[in-house]
Amino acid sequence: MNLHETLRKIAIDINLNPDELIRYADADTIGGWNADETQATFPCGSIWGVEGQILYALICATLPEHLLELGAFQGCSRTHLDAAVYVNKLGEVTSVDIAYEADYNMDAVEFLSTSKQMWDFIFEDTNHSMELTRDIWKLAVPKLNPGGIIVSHDAMHFGVGANVRAGIGAAGYASHNYLTAPSDCGLALWRKPLDTTVKPPTRKSATKPRKKSKTSKAAAKRQAVVVKTQIDRMDKA
Ligand SMILES: C[S@@+](CC[C@H](N)C(=O)[O-])C[C@H]1O[C@@H](n2cnc3c(N)ncnc32)[C@H](O)[C@@H]1O
Repeated sequence: MNLHETLRKIAIDINLNPDELIRYADADTIGGWNADETQATFPCGSIWGVEGQILYALICATLPEHLLELGAFQGCSRTHLDAAVYVNKLGEVTSVDIAYEADYNMDAVEFLSTSKQMWDFIFEDTNHSMELTRDIWKLAVPKLNPGGIIVSHDAMHFGVGANVRAGIGAAGYASHNYLTAPSDCGLALWRKPLDTTVKPPTRKSATKPRKKSKTSKAAAKRQAVVVKTQIDRMDKA
């Protein structure tokens, strides 16, 4: 599937507006890893640009307040998350990584076991073993607010995709899985049913100040350039 086909499928699967998702995704020019190295803006090990666009579009469409990233590496997915939060004027991102710079330098399972925070959006991109994926989903899904979204990376990868999908299944969840060209990694996505008694946030109500980002200096610099581009584009639109 190409990016727009993926977004149309996601819109059907988790009840979002496809045109809105496509409009948001097209505004994200941050990029990411790409096997064509002339197109890569982040190193190997990062998410692909199209996957960053999907995360960005999901965040713009659902306006999450508390976002969690498990597996930060060199800041690619974090940059997409930060840019979406900036444009939304709502939300704060928390990153956890066992080895790379993050808000919490610790094991993802240990973090989820000890944190009392509830989340609206969780992006998991750790070691892609069946066991770790299972343990993370088992702990993370109960900490999702109604309507909250969890996404795992590499769910369609020829090497580790089967582990990721088996881990999600072993945790008891049936994810929607997408492979979006030119990526060979893929995303697994699951949305908690909405609580129909609670009004979802709207752009008008999204006025809470954002928490200052704690990305690395290099990522923060890249982010500033990207966010300026986003805002210039939105102003022109
Ligand atoms: C594929 S990279 C993440 C890429 C990142 N999402 C991006 O797009 O830039 C995987 C990251 O997960 C981290 N990691 C692996 N196992 C972990 C664990 N048990 N808890 C927390 N982080 C872990 C690694 O240190 C590494 O930085």
